[in-house]
Parts: sequence; structure tokens; C-alpha cells
Amino acid sequence: MTIGAVPLLLSRALPVPQSGTIEIPGEDGMIVRSFRFLDLETPVEYLNTWLTPVPHFFVRNHMHEPSQLDPDGWRVTVGGEVAKPISLTLSELAKLESHSIVNTLECAGNGRALHHPQVPGIQWGKGAVSTARFSGPRLGDVLERAGIKPTGKHVMFRGLDEIPGKVPPFIRSIPIEKALDADTLIATHMNGAPLAKHHGFPARALVPGWIGAASCKWLTEIKVLESEFAGNFMSPGYRFPNQPAQPGDTVKPEDTHPLTALNVKSVISGPLDGASLKAGKIAVHGAAWAGEASIVKVEVSTDGGASWNPVSLGREQAHYAWCLWTYDWRAKGGDYTILSRATDSQGRTQPAIAAWNPSGYLYNAVDQVKIHVA
Ligand code: MTE
Repeated sequence: MTIGAVPLLLSRALPVPQSGTIEIPGEDGMIVRSFRFLDLETPVEYLNTWLTPVPHFFVRNHMHEPSQLDPDGWRVTVGGEVAKPISLTLSELAKLESHSIVNTLECAGNGRALHHPQVPGIQWGKGAVSTARFSGPRLGDVLERAGIKPTGKHVMFRGLDEIPGKVPPFIRSIPIEKALDADTLIATHMNGAPLAKHHGFPARALVPGWIGAASCKWLTEIKVLESEFAGNFMSPGYRFPNQPAQPGDTVKPEDTHPLTALNVKSVISGPLDGASLKAGKIAVHGAAWAGEASIVKVEVSTDGGASWNPVSLGREQAHYAWCLWTYDWRAKGGDYTILSRATDSQGRTQPAIAAWNPSGYLYNAVDQVKIHVA
């Protein structure tokens, strides 16, 4: 079987490890990938609403969440390469003009468990991705108040995470152009309600279309820098090889670049892998997203990649948000491998096999489920 010119190894199953269920209050049905630092994956069958309800929105924490957060005492400081360092309370932020962006947030490590050979790190299956409407003032408006000096080229965020032992703090930076983009926010709300604690209450950065790590939670400090922040989560963390890497390669830091925007990608949210269904009309459905680009088409194959069919894209669409899609299939009895493949406005199409890299970032191979039709 082939996808385009690339042979598709259908014998290669896509095992998505499911962990046991630990009940996390308010996080109904989520897959717990780590309990010490809370990492919750959205089950793939929940990726079927344009806006993900907050209790079903994946959670990724590198360390402990802040144990005490007093919204009345909270401030975010803005300093570094600025004319006038400032600090703002939550009510001062609330007085600034608010903007809303529907954004698909995806962890750079989403799909890591699907890379072959395996790479170390949280073994995310398909659901370290969710979509919400984020609202709050523009980061650019806040930076403008402080007055960026001409030397200011990058903007660093620090959160209020509680740092265990000698672990380096979760501090990252983004280039000034993205910080000043009108769609980059200091988000205080998610789906119309104040941010939930797991998602960064009382305020987080929202860097739309970029890997989730760019969107710092529990924001406490914004600092304008002359150059990219030098710290563990900028290097060696969250970097990608400049040249294709082969499994087992060690890639030197100078041969890598920081991850920014997300890849083109689709997932099948139903039918589920391993499902046994009745012959007749079967709706194959899922979601597709492309970071800063837009989805132009999604195709489904019900014959393991020999032929492809266009799907219908959902009416709810926004620049950085996933599109939901559906393919109405008339199925006869048999065993099937169903594939989905997205193409975006930058001409990128999901590959048959994702680019392997030592940290397992940006997995975006054509998605597949195997089902039985009786
Ligand atoms: N911000 C802080 N302060 N600490 C973190 O551990 N994790 C980042 C980002 N922001 C993180 C953070 C990562 S890796 C991701 S993918 C997103 O938050 C996840 O956001 P969510 O938990 O709201 O889904």
C-alpha cells in the first residue's frame, strides 16, 4: 500500500498506551500520563467538539502547580529592555481592551508514543491537543505601556510553578515579532470563564499557532531581552534538528533550532481503533489543524492508502483553530485500515511516517485506525 510515493507499513500498528484511571476532581475521563506533575491527556474520542470543554482540555505541567494563588495579591511585572518597568494587577489587566482567539493548543510532544523507535519523555498518545477560546489583553498593548527599547528582541515569560529541588525553572522566550503580533495575548479567560488553575489561573501567555510550551501559565514575570533566553527549556529543550535525523543519532545543539509553529496534522476521533461496527453508513470523523497555517483539505482512505476521498470540513473555523471534519462512508463487511491526511495553506501534507527526532517532537504522520465491519 502507498500514500503518495511513500510506502505505508500497514503492519506497523499504532499502539497508544492507555494508563490506568486515577480520579482527578473535575477531570472526568482524562488519561493520566503523570501524576507527580499533572499531565492529563484528552481521550481521542473527546476531540470531537470545536471548543474543548475545560474539564476535557489536556494538561501539561513540567513541575508542581502553584499551591497558593491569591488573585487579589497577584501582579505581573514587565521589565528588562523597556523604558519604564511596570507591574499590573488582575483588575488593571481587566481594564485593557480584551481580545478573543480560538486556538488549538498542542504540546510539542503530542504523539511521542507513536514514534519508532521509542524516544524518552512523557508517552503522549494522540490527545495532548485541545481547542479553546482564549481572551484577555494583547501582550503588545502591555509591552507598549512599558515602552520597548530598540535593543528588545525577545520576550521572556516566567510562571509561578513550584520548582522541585534543583530542577531548572520553566522559563522560555519568544521573538519580539510574535510577542507584538495582534493575536498574542495575556489570556485571563478560557471558553468565557476565568482560567482554571490547571490552565494557568490567573493569567497565561497565549502564543497562537505555536507549540504549547510557548504559552506560559501562571504568568508572574514578562521580561524583554536582547537575545533569546538561555535556559534548559529553550536549549536543549524544545529544539528540532536542522537536518533529518535517523533513529539513534545524537544531534549537536548547534545543529538544531527552537520549535515555533505547529505542523499540519489530523486525527480520527471516531470510529475508535479496534471498533467492531455494523455494515452500512459509518461516519468517519476527526479534527485537523496546522498551527499558523490553515487547513485546505482533509482526505480519508478506507483501503489503507490506495485511494483517498475528500471529507466535509465543519463550518466552525478560525485562523489558529482546528477544523472538525466528517466522511460519510458506506461500509461493507471486512477488516479495514482507515487513514486521514491533512494538507494546509503552506502546501504541507501529513507524511506517511513522521520525521524522527531525539525528543520525539511534532509527530504528525497520517493518522490510522483499524476497525472490523461485521
Ligand atoms: N507554563 C508553565 N508555567 N509551566 C509549565 O509546565 N507547560 C507548557 C505550557 N505552559 C507549562 C507552561 C506546556 S509544555 C504546554 S504543552 C502547555 O502549557 C499546556 O497548557 P495546558 O496545560 O493549559 O493544556
